[in-house]
Amino acid sequence: MPRSRVTVIGAGNVGATTAQRIAEAGLADVILVDIVEGLPQGKGLDLAEAAPVVDHDARITGTNDYADTAGSDIIVVTSGLARQPGMSRDDLLTKNAGIVRSVVEQAAKHSPDAILIVVTNPLDAMCHVALEASGFPRERVLGMAGVLDSARFRTFIAEELGVSVADTHAFVLGGHGDTMVPLSRYSTVAGVPITELLPADRVRALEERTANGGAEVVALLKTGSAFYAPSAGVFEMVEAILLDRKRVLPCAVLLKGEFGTSDLFVGVPVVLGAGGMERVFEIELTSDEQAAFDRSAGVVKDLVEVLGR
Ligand SMILES: NC(=O)c1ccc[n+]([C@@H]2O[C@H](COP(=O)([O-])OP(=O)(O)OC[C@H]3O[C@@H](n4cnc5c(N)ncnc54)[C@H](O)[C@@H]3O)[C@@H](O)[C@H]2O)c1
Repeated sequence: MPRSRVTVIGAGNVGATTAQRIAEAGLADVILVDIVEGLPQGKGLDLAEAAPVVDHDARITGTNDYADTAGSDIIVVTSGLARQPGMSRDDLLTKNAGIVRSVVEQAAKHSPDAILIVVTNPLDAMCHVALEASGFPRERVLGMAGVLDSARFRTFIAEELGVSVADTHAFVLGGHGDTMVPLSRYSTVAGVPITELLPADRVRALEERTANGGAEVVALLKTGSAFYAPSAGVFEMVEAILLDRKRVLPCAVLLKGEFGTSDLFVGVPVVLGAGGMERVFEIELTSDEQAAFDRSAGVVKDLVEVLGR
């Protein structure tokens, strides 16, 4: 049986690290694509030359030609620009929408049965662009953000309580941004909600640190943004799909009435397997949680409306 094929578009920090994680786990052959000539080929060759030492047989191909991506099982979209000084949020939105639209159109044409995982920011709005550009059903268009946000929350919980990250579980809902909704009563250590283990002010502090997790890394790096944890988030989703694990992971998906929201991509827990998003894992929210979720969904709606103008 041939190995699965994963195309990663954008050979920058997130894309190249994602390619490395997938290949080095032997999970799939990886096709790394970028608009810059030589960049995906160079990084692809470098990654391939690590294979004898790391000991895996996955093939890594770098290319600027979408024909080389044909027949991919999964397409990961990380191509985009970072916000430059003087560039407004809306400028970035429009520029990245153009990039995501063009790469998804080309990649979807060569891999019509693939599952798309969008990473480019602003995440939820870029998922709308990818859905439209691909013409794929909602089950096959997913955004990666919740896995990263909940990994950050788990890291902070483990650090605060002096326990292994393995025994933590975290639940984060909503759009990817500072209005995300970390759900502490469903965030646990060995099954015990953190609201029973920590005073309310500490819980709030961990929630706030999670919501600002991306900005905290950017402030330290000065140039560029996080990529080790984001690529680990993509890897977890790719693995859940290729191994049909039915993992329950928070992903951005197009809601159709779930959580009281329709026709918007927002982060919610879903069952991820060979079919992509196999079902939304709906839970009851308190009125405060629902209000926070609605606020977060409202921010996504505003961005999508800017795109439509
Ligand atoms: N969803 C999340 O949780 C999350 C986390 C981290 C980063 N991100 C986002 O992921 C994106 C990538 O981040 P990064 O750190 O890897 O950036 P990066 O600048 O290192 O890489 C982006 C790559 O995209 C390429 N690119 C640009 N236009 C292209 C096109 N038309 N076709 C093909 N390739 C093209 C660039 O040449 C570059 O190599 C950004 O939008 C970032 O905000 C999202």
